[in-house]
Amino acid sequence: MNVLGMEILSLNVNVFYALNEVNMFKILAMSDIHLNFDINNGVRRKFFNSIRKAKCPIIITGDIGDGRSLESNLKDLSEACNGFPVYFITGNHDYYHSSFERTDEIIHLSVKNFPNLVYLSESSPIRLDEETCLIGVDSWYDAKIIPEGTYLNMLMNDFRYIENLSLIKKSRQEVIKSFQKRASDALKDLKEILSEAVKKYKNIIITSHPLPFGCMEVVKGSDASPFYIWHEAGLFIADFSKNNPRNEFLWLCGHTHSRSEWHNENLNVYCLGSQYYFPRIDGIITDMRFEYETVK
Ligand SMILES: [Fe+2]
Ligand SMILES: [Fe+2]
Repeated sequence: MNVLGMEILSLNVNVFYALNEVNMFKILAMSDIHLNFDINNGVRRKFFNSIRKAKCPIIITGDIGDGRSLESNLKDLSEACNGFPVYFITGNHDYYHSSFERTDEIIHLSVKNFPNLVYLSESSPIRLDEETCLIGVDSWYDAKIIPEGTYLNMLMNDFRYIENLSLIKKSRQEVIKSFQKRASDALKDLKEILSEAVKKYKNIIITSHPLPFGCMEVVKGSDASPFYIWHEAGLFIADFSKNNPRNEFLWLCGHTHSRSEWHNENLNVYCLGSQYYFPRIDGIITDMRFEYETVK
């Protein structure tokens, strides 16, 4: 009887395990991989091999490369994922040495040539399972966390290397207006796609490049603060999650290169960490659970 009992138990565990495997999804998460840099060949190979070996989709929350490298970076990522989706949005660096328009063209061409590339900014909510979807927008910092007029003490490279934001061609006020418009357009897109997503899904994974909350910044109140935070998106999602208590929201971002977290009842926000010249998988999403990877 003992033997029979153990056999039944063992069978049940296997069936349960098999069901779980079918129902669960796993996605690798990374940000700010900056593949345009002159990365050591061994490090680059190791990074792409780790993606290849995982045999699952990946999410990248921006700063993949720059305007000159993005096409080949996306191609390499597509090939490493070998048929599994590469979900991505852009970060500020993806427009360097280029313009918003030219980077958009590169993305459109890449997505057409490599069908497993999924540009979240132009996608409807992506179904991950019956209850869960993934959305993302090409977001921007909005420099709204400190009183108007006192910011732009620090000059980001964005204002040198992105044509549309270049201080050579525009005044400071025009540059501020340009990126704030980009941030507010992105917020409109986010509101639209999120309201579509909650009609159908209980769990929503949201991706942005900048942080939604100032309190997540590791070096708080630095001169760079205005350029790290998409403040109005933070105000919005804090309200939205409160008004939709039956939904669960997982928000992934990057841009500061430092890991940080923020949580309330139904909203969990994680900033993915990164290091120049050492691209890495920084976390794993299993269902709605996010976990940072151990940095080796
Ligand atoms: Fe970055
Ligand atoms: Fe960035």
